[in-house]
Amino acid sequence: MNKISIVGAGNTGATAAHWLAERELANVVLLDVVEGMPQGKGLDLLEAMPIIGKDAKVTGTNDYADTKDSDIVIITAGIARKPGMSRDDLLKTNAEIVGKAATETLKYSPNAIFIVLTNPLDTMAYLVMKKTGLPRSRVIGQAGILDSARMRAFVAMEAGVSVENVQCYVLGGHGDEMVPLTRHSNIAGIPLRDYLPADKLEAIVNRTRKGGGEIVNLLKTGSAYYAPSMACVQMAEAILKDKKLIVPCATHMEGEYGLNDMYFGVPVMLGAGGMEKVIEYQFDESEKAMFEKSAASVKETHEALKSVVAL
Ligand code: APR
Repeated sequence: MNKISIVGAGNTGATAAHWLAERELANVVLLDVVEGMPQGKGLDLLEAMPIIGKDAKVTGTNDYADTKDSDIVIITAGIARKPGMSRDDLLKTNAEIVGKAATETLKYSPNAIFIVLTNPLDTMAYLVMKKTGLPRSRVIGQAGILDSARMRAFVAMEAGVSVENVQCYVLGGHGDEMVPLTRHSNIAGIPLRDYLPADKLEAIVNRTRKGGGEIVNLLKTGSAYYAPSMACVQMAEAILKDKKLIVPCATHMEGEYGLNDMYFGVPVMLGAGGMEKVIEYQFDESEKAMFEKSAASVKETHEALKSVVAL
């Protein structure tokens, strides 16, 4: 069986382990700085396996040596966003945590593909690529699947249709400037703009942009974790099964969409090689303007990162 190590056994990490084990996608190692907690969660999950008849092995640890020979490393370690705290406030603390998580796991799993979840997402993925020196194909940020799933959930609720009939594409940075593409999104092939009145669609777009904050405000402590961890499991599955799945992910821009030297959410193809291909959409003027605004905001966080850590 494949092996996936998850650094950070908190809400998103442990929930990702849960989804992965339940699907028997891989043996899972949960690593955290807190002593006993990852071991406890790992053992608890392992003890659920006989009930559902799955043979995934789940273990918890505080020792990076136990992550040896992982096919995929998922990084969720960090401090979760609190009410009123912007994603960018998290920058310095999370940069130190994520940088160490990446370099330590790479020592034991030199061939692993990295999926990054820690916020501020685009900038943490950039940091992992810089700290590990890996090609962009092997460092992928999770954000677009989650943002698109939120929009799909809201559209399905509003239209009263199955979520399976709803395709939405949210690109750009994982922040309030994200780019929900209403022209490319559809219900059973019918463009959203033809299916829903403009005011309803605008409300959905706004709610999607603030989707993370909505959950933070409700939870009071911590941030969303069911949907973020599921998004990350979809990415891991696409890689392990070499599915050639096209989904929006944060990837290193190397000239595509006119962008360079930054991580940004665009449609990519996921397969055994990790991020195998960037897909380029044709934008109209208003989409282009949104995309550029979002890119400027992500660039700013990248610059802020460079002022707090050496890359
Ligand atoms: N090494 C390993 N684990 C660490 C380290 C470290 N240096 N520092 C913190 N952690 C662990 C914490 O002990 C905690 O268990 O990371 C875990 C984070 O879990 P939560 O606080 O529950 O946060 P979570 O909701 O999982 O979010 C983690 O993912 O979605 C993003 O915005 C979110 O950046 C946040 C991250």
